[in-house]
Amino acid sequence: MTSNYGDRSLRSVAIVIAAAGRGERLGGELPKALEQVAGVSLLEYCVHVIAGMRGLGAVVVAAPDGYLADVEEICARLTKPGATVVAGGSTRTESVSNALAVMPDGIDIVLVHDAARAFTPVEQFLDVIAAVEAGADAVIPGLAVVDTIKEVDASGSVLRTVPRDSLRGVQTPQGFRRETLDAVHRDENVDGATDDAGMIEASGGLVKVIPGHPDAFKVTTPFDRLIALALVTSRSVQ
Ligand code: CTP
Ligand code: MG
Repeated sequence: MTSNYGDRSLRSVAIVIAAAGRGERLGGELPKALEQVAGVSLLEYCVHVIAGMRGLGAVVVAAPDGYLADVEEICARLTKPGATVVAGGSTRTESVSNALAVMPDGIDIVLVHDAARAFTPVEQFLDVIAAVEAGADAVIPGLAVVDTIKEVDASGSVLRTVPRDSLRGVQTPQGFRRETLDAVHRDENVDGATDDAGMIEASGGLVKVIPGHPDAFKVTTPFDRLIALALVTSRSVQ
């Protein structure tokens, strides 16, 4: 990972935090972004990392239904100037669209990040920005897949083993030229993708994968909560 962004300004860069999901697979009491690990919510970990990137042009957070005030309180406490909070939608794509709708002028690059990837190192954000600046329309961090992957039919019988050398498990932040991202979000023919990079692919655009980081894993299940606690504990004793 390149960790040096030098003295270049981040004024034309914005970060959207998709934090509006319910976290059904995690199964907590609260929406996932507000669930805590060692007494700190996933959204607080996430916003803290982003607040360390001085001079960003904008930060927009899509908040879970009914929790706008909680998210506003976190952003007011941890960001300066304050992040903008919008209501999320019923899908991740809708949440990102709602955030793009309030994006100020003067932003050229937009990074879309999952609040659930709360432990993503700041270097990963800077690497994605650098790769978009180097000319890509869309950039996503990814890691080689470690499991052997089988394609199965409806009855569970294996159809084939998928060669894994060319497979990547992708993470966030996903980075885009602003006009490219705005265009796919406006295009009603581009639908059904689970991430913004998928929308660029569907529209025929080129998406580049750069190396990701294990700490950028997505907190999805109760097991991931244990991993998150181990990560926080190991960081605090270093
Ligand atoms: N997300 C969002 N708006 C939605 C759905 C998801 O902003 N309507 C966000 C989540 O908050 C999360 C990221 O997208 O940070 C990745 O989604 P996922 O891991 O699926 O989170 P949840 O949808 O909350 O989890 P689940 O699918 O288990 O309910
Ligand atoms: Mg989900």
